[in-house]
Amino acid sequence: MISVTVDPLGEHLTLKTTSSRRSFHAIWLRDNASDAETRAPGNGQRLIALRDIPTDTRIASAELKGNTLEVCFAPEGKVTAYDLGWLEANAYDNEQSSHQRGWTAPGVETWDARLMGTVPTADFEVLSGDDAALTQWLGLVNKYGFGKVVNGPVEDGALFKFVDLFGYVRETNYGRHFEVRTEVNPTNLAFTGLGLQAHTDNPYRDPVPTVQVLYCLESSAAGGENMVVDGFAAAKRLREENENYFDVLADHCARFEFSGEAGVCLTSRRPMIELAPDGELIAVRFNNRSMAAITDVPFDKMATYYAAYRRLGEIIDDEAMEVTFRLNPGEGFVVDNTRVLHARKGYSGEGTRWLQGCYADKDGLRSTYDAMCRNMPLGDTE
Ligand code: FE2
Repeated sequence: MISVTVDPLGEHLTLKTTSSRRSFHAIWLRDNASDAETRAPGNGQRLIALRDIPTDTRIASAELKGNTLEVCFAPEGKVTAYDLGWLEANAYDNEQSSHQRGWTAPGVETWDARLMGTVPTADFEVLSGDDAALTQWLGLVNKYGFGKVVNGPVEDGALFKFVDLFGYVRETNYGRHFEVRTEVNPTNLAFTGLGLQAHTDNPYRDPVPTVQVLYCLESSAAGGENMVVDGFAAAKRLREENENYFDVLADHCARFEFSGEAGVCLTSRRPMIELAPDGELIAVRFNNRSMAAITDVPFDKMATYYAAYRRLGEIIDDEAMEVTFRLNPGEGFVVDNTRVLHARKGYSGEGTRWLQGCYADKDGLRSTYDAMCRNMPLGDTE
């Protein structure tokens, strides 16, 4: 049993069932009307601006008709209907959950080395021809922030076919893609054998490339495994260990810079741990090679800032946080570059390794996933 009541001034209405109570403001309801004069029937885009809605908009009357709520607005005299399911799905007077700073969205699952046995992996050929398999794999990429493909083509530029599965390449000053070729032999082993500290790529860009793809074409050298670390898990662990450390990295901007080639001077000013206004953890930037001088931390907090930066680095370096996997020719992986850090382990033998990399963006990946989900029967997707 559901009932509707309108407050005496018509400023809001309340829908009540035996188990729930949802209130909506007149201005919110009017702005969210779905009639053909308010929203374009074809693409759903809003046809009016807020200035077209009278400031003194109020609810003149409201009536339940089956699964629909019909509302008449004064002073326009406009009558419009709302689906009750839509209202429930978009209700906003829920108990404000007491989110801890650094909370993550419901679809995000943080991980550590224990994910090693279950790296989200899919067969390239299957992904190319099976929408359900692609949807499931993209769902895992959204959940864990990375995913691997195997059994792909071994040919120059194959990574573009990989990106075509979910989005679009982001071209940068490094080109549409970049080459990662390594010759490993005894004379240069000391150099190439060095692993890199896990990092997010290109934090000096604004915005950063939100997806990175690496794809293997040749791999005869021993070692050189790829490693990923969940930056969100690292940030949460830092918060659990020392809230001051978490706060100082979230509350102050770092600076990043790359000006290592002629005609290029890329700079950005963003925090290492980025939070939304409601405390949601939305991005991690961590890259020792491109951090510029930090100048936006007050003098009396700089020592704490550096201690926090050092501790975050130690957490990232902790083997308990890392997942490693080897890329063989025809295999590649994608990472959410706003969340998951990546690195290459050191080499221990001779041989060559040839990878190609490129950037893309996760709005495209998420759009592909969400659009495919809408076309799938419920329960068929991750
Ligand atoms: Fe990198």
